[in-house]
Amino acid sequence: MSKKEERKEVDEREVIPLLNPYKMGNFDLSHRIVLAPLTRSRSYNFVAQSHAVLYYSQRATKGGFLIGEASGVSPTAQGYPNTPGIWTREQLEAWKPIVSAVHEKGAIFFCQLWHAGRVSNSQYQPDGEAPISSTEKRLRKDIGNNKATADRYTTPRRVRTDEVPELVNDFVIAAKKAIEAGFDGVEIHGGNGYLLEQFLKDEVNDRDDEYGGSLENRCRFPLQVVKAVADEIGADKVGIRLSPFADYNDCGDSNPQALGQYMAQSLSEVGILYIHLIEPRMVTQFDKFHTKWSLTPIRKAFKGTFIVAGGYDRSEGNEAISSGAADLIANGRLFLANPDLPARFELDAELNEPDPTTFYTHHPVIGYTDYPFLHHI
Ligand code: PHB
Repeated sequence: MSKKEERKEVDEREVIPLLNPYKMGNFDLSHRIVLAPLTRSRSYNFVAQSHAVLYYSQRATKGGFLIGEASGVSPTAQGYPNTPGIWTREQLEAWKPIVSAVHEKGAIFFCQLWHAGRVSNSQYQPDGEAPISSTEKRLRKDIGNNKATADRYTTPRRVRTDEVPELVNDFVIAAKKAIEAGFDGVEIHGGNGYLLEQFLKDEVNDRDDEYGGSLENRCRFPLQVVKAVADEIGADKVGIRLSPFADYNDCGDSNPQALGQYMAQSLSEVGILYIHLIEPRMVTQFDKFHTKWSLTPIRKAFKGTFIVAGGYDRSEGNEAISSGAADLIANGRLFLANPDLPARFELDAELNEPDPTTFYTHHPVIGYTDYPFLHHI
């Protein structure tokens, strides 16, 4: 290639906002396309399996940023079969080769720390006990739709005030384990109706202690988790995922804008690396709806990196980056189905269609590592 052609290639790259480099704290990212945290249900006995090495390394690029699937922080954290954990030595060791493979490709890899709270069933709980939550109210509808699932979730046990520090500590221990496994940092799952959100949102949180009632009180436990994890591993290695506008898993709030802004301001004070927000249009996890809400005030309230998720295609992603609405775009379904998504976006190439029937099946290859690449690598 002549010097002139090389320059032309670089110039063209620069006009694709999604392909512009970005400095996220201490991490030098070569593009803006993030692998969203995706539950793939390919773990066994809550231990990540070796087929995840290929899955994640297929999606890793030099300077790319990957967020791992939700990983339980303690024995009470699980809500589904075949999701991984990060609370035992065996679980930690299982993550090591997966993280190494991602690092070999030059990507940055965060572990998502998760507690399902009441989105669970006693069958996933130690000794068949009730799942824990901020409340004793049982989940009435399934994720993102109104299908009645009263039989799927067990009525939760409300955690006592004096148990909360232990829950905070579970996140701290899991974060330490994630770092020991080699992850570059952690994302705390504060969205989608799971435990932290069961405290944040007033349609679920009905506590009368210091963790319920006012906005400040409802945000107390999630903020304690974030601060404690940041104190342990460094705020520069901590992000959080939030979905104030969604009501997935029967977890809505009467004033999501105030909730989002209060969290953004408080998290800014802690100085964490990023907030990862689910777009208000994702009222369900599958379709985009028009809503009156906007992420702009939340973006303005937060000093760090702002990642958005919510069915972004190439042109919407480019628009969000070029307008300054977001720093990075997390892609779930498109990245699941297109392991070489950054290359495809760069070339504006055709995309593979995701197959929802294999999102959560357990096969180590089908629907997991068999989506084709543009060029065989
Ligand atoms: C989610 O964030 O929606 C989520 C997390 C963990 C799961 C499934 C879904 O196992």
